[in-house]
Amino acid sequence: MQKTYILGIESSCDDTSAAVICNGKVLSNVIANQEVHSKYGGVIPELASRAHQQNIVPVVQQALEKANIRKEDLSAIAFTRGPGLMGSLLVGTSFAKSLALGLAIPLIDVNHMQAHILAHFILEEGSTIPPFPFICLTISGGHTQIVKVSDHFDMEILGETIDDAVGEAFDKSAKILGLPYPGGPLIDKHAQLGNPKAYSFTKPKVGDLDFSFSGLKTGILYFIQKKQRLNPHFIKENLNDICASIQNTIVEILMDKLKNTVSQTGIKHIAIAGGVSANSEIRKRLVTAQQHFGWTTYIPKFEYTTDNAAMIAITGYLKYLNGSYADQTISAKARLKVTE
Ligand code: KG4
Ligand code: ZN
Repeated sequence: MQKTYILGIESSCDDTSAAVICNGKVLSNVIANQEVHSKYGGVIPELASRAHQQNIVPVVQQALEKANIRKEDLSAIAFTRGPGLMGSLLVGTSFAKSLALGLAIPLIDVNHMQAHILAHFILEEGSTIPPFPFICLTISGGHTQIVKVSDHFDMEILGETIDDAVGEAFDKSAKILGLPYPGGPLIDKHAQLGNPKAYSFTKPKVGDLDFSFSGLKTGILYFIQKKQRLNPHFIKENLNDICASIQNTIVEILMDKLKNTVSQTGIKHIAIAGGVSANSEIRKRLVTAQQHFGWTTYIPKFEYTTDNAAMIAITGYLKYLNGSYADQTISAKARLKVTE
C-alpha cells in the first residue's frame, strides 16, 4: 500500500502543535503549551501569536523527527484555517502555505471544529470508529454543540449554546474559586475527592437541544459570595465538594441534552469531542450510558481531546483522499461554523 504522510499544523488558540499521520495512523503529535497565559487568568491573544511564532519551527521539526521522516517525504500539509484567534491562526496558516509552496505539495485547509469530531477516525489499536450517522457532543473552550454527523464532511448542528461554552463555564467557575487558567482540569481533579451532592445549583431552562451556561456561572458566583460572608475560608475548607458539585451540575446538563437528542433522532451512536471531553465525569457517565440506555459511546483518547495537530492531520488525510485541496490565496478565518 502506498504511504501517504500528512503533516498537520494547529495554532488556533494557545497550543502550538504539529503531527504526522501515515494512512490514518499517528506517527507523532507534538504539542507546545503556552504557560504564559496562566497568570493572566485567560489567553492573551497577542502573547499567543508571539509564542506560536517562537514555537512553530521547532515543533514541526520535532514532529518530523519523531515520525522518522524527512519533509521531502510529506504528501500534503494540513493546517487549521479557523475558527480561533486571528493572530494565532495567521501563524499556522502562513507557515503551512510557505512549506507547501516550498515542497510543491498540496495544501489542505481544516476546520478546527470538524477536526475535533474527526479525531474519532484516527486509526488506533483497540479503538472503534463510529458508524454514520452518529451524534457528537462537541464541548470545548469556545463551543458547545450537538452535531449530527452523516458523513465525514456532512454535519448538521442540532443544538448549541446560546451564550457561554461549557469550557468557559468550567474556567469561569474555577476563576471564582481562585484557581488558575485553564481551570477545567483543576475542577476535575478536586471533584474526584469531593461530594457531588454537597451543593446544588439551578440548571438552566433553555429550549430543546440548546444550552446556556451564563446563568449557572452567575449562580455559582452569588452562592460563593453568600457563603464567604458567613465564613471567609469557605472556599478553602470546601474546595473539593464545591468542585464536585459544579462538575456534577454541568455533566448532568450535558447528559440531559444527550438523552433528548437520542429520543428525538433515534440515533444511539454517541461520541464526544473537544477539550471538555477530557473530563473524567463525562467519560464515566458515557461508559455507564452503554448499559443504562443501550447507547454505543465513543470516547476519544485523552491526547486527542484538547487542541492537538493529530486531529488536523487526520482531517487533512480524509480531505486528501477526496482531492479537496486549498490554493495559495486561502486566508485564515476567525469565525467558521462546523458545517462550513
Ligand atoms: O478544545 P480545547 O483544547 O480548546 C478549544 O478549542 O476551546 O478546550 C479547552 C477547554 C478549556 O475550557 C479547558 O478548561 C477544558 O477544555 N478542559 C476541561 C478538562 N480538560 C480541559 N474541562 C473539564 N475537565 C477537564 N478534565
Ligand atoms: Zn479546540
